[in-house]
Amino acid sequence: MNQWYCSVCHEILNAENKPASCEICRADDRMIMSTEQVPGTLEQVRDMARTKLKGICAAYPACDGNFDKICQREAYGKPIGLGGAGQGRSFRANTEALSRIEFNMSVLGDHFEPDTSCSFLGVDLKFPVLAASTAGAQKYNEALDETQFCVSVLRGSKEAGTIGLRGDTWFYTREDHPSLNAMKACNGYGIPIFKPRSQDVLKKLIETAQEYGCKAVGVDLDGCGSTIMARQGQPVFKKSVKDIEELVRFTSLPFIAKGVMMPEEAQKCVDAGVQVIAVSNHGGRVLDSTPGVATVLPLIRKKVGKSVTLTADGGVRTGYDVLKMLALGADAVLLGRDIIRAAVGAGTLGVKLHLEHVHKTLKKAMFMTGTKNLKMADSKILFNQD
Ligand SMILES: Cc1cc2nc3c(=O)[nH]c(=O)nc-3n(C[C@H](O)[C@H](O)[C@H](O)COP(=O)(O)O)c2cc1C
Repeated sequence: MNQWYCSVCHEILNAENKPASCEICRADDRMIMSTEQVPGTLEQVRDMARTKLKGICAAYPACDGNFDKICQREAYGKPIGLGGAGQGRSFRANTEALSRIEFNMSVLGDHFEPDTSCSFLGVDLKFPVLAASTAGAQKYNEALDETQFCVSVLRGSKEAGTIGLRGDTWFYTREDHPSLNAMKACNGYGIPIFKPRSQDVLKKLIETAQEYGCKAVGVDLDGCGSTIMARQGQPVFKKSVKDIEELVRFTSLPFIAKGVMMPEEAQKCVDAGVQVIAVSNHGGRVLDSTPGVATVLPLIRKKVGKSVTLTADGGVRTGYDVLKMLALGADAVLLGRDIIRAAVGAGTLGVKLHLEHVHKTLKKAMFMTGTKNLKMADSKILFNQD
């Protein structure tokens, strides 16, 4: 008898041959591996992702949207895959903006253990790093089932001591919505972000999220330009301030406006009553030639003041990047592509290992900049940023 490991629920299965599905969580055989193959390190998870994402993403050490990377090099006229829109300038702007930020390295003072704990919309987290809302992994070489992808992200985030967002895309329908299916499977421990569909459709999806006990809901306002959604009979729209107000009033849950890049528009979202603004250019996937998120984040924080929670995402790869975003004004930081690779590589386990690694490097970054707790993460720890 051989032993098999389900990378979604961690169950050990005894069988001569690889089981077709996990007897506990029903994950299919793509999520099951021999116990000898179970990765113990993030490097092994990335190696597994590289194999499964062949031709789409090579899980490079530097994920920056440069032309030497397969996601960007082959972009013209091809599906966007994990790349950026157009020539990938916005994708690259995210990592370049973060590269320009430098730390003041502080070595004097009392020895201390950095405290990374925080609360996000009333949920206690070990550290302020969340899995970003992403969707569509199933379409990459059919490497995994979309609902299993979503469950892996939600479970892996929870096991690492944080929480996951989930996305929405053209093959998600009201009747079969992998993000909401996964929310149900995870007792609502997650945050669905819906595409800017019609108000009526959004209200129905929000109602389901409430029924499942989700912690918040949101809309990626920057998803309004998606043509594939319309082609698949699921049209998306630009949202007015009135539309956002209506959704905020409609739901009893905190509301997240994702994909805001302009201080004036951020202020309008605050005025509409949103609890969180997710400063994001969608990982550079919706408009070529925007500034990097790290460039606009301090301007947005300055405009909206302390009254609203800000998340930031785009090009964040390490705990060092996380601390830069926090110091520039974010309350929490989202990870996109890295979490996709972790989930494709090794399901829940991959996501957990990835987030734990980022937590470790965040602590290191805080220690070496004399940042004892998250309240101290401000522009003073950055070189020449006062
Ligand atoms: C393949 C892929 C799919 C995505 N799908 C969604 C989505 O459905 N909804 C959403 O709000 N954002 C989506 N995003 C954007 C992410 O939430 C996030 O803003 C972005 O990935 C952050 O940049 P990073 O990938 O460089 O970390 C997607 C990003 C990628 C790479």
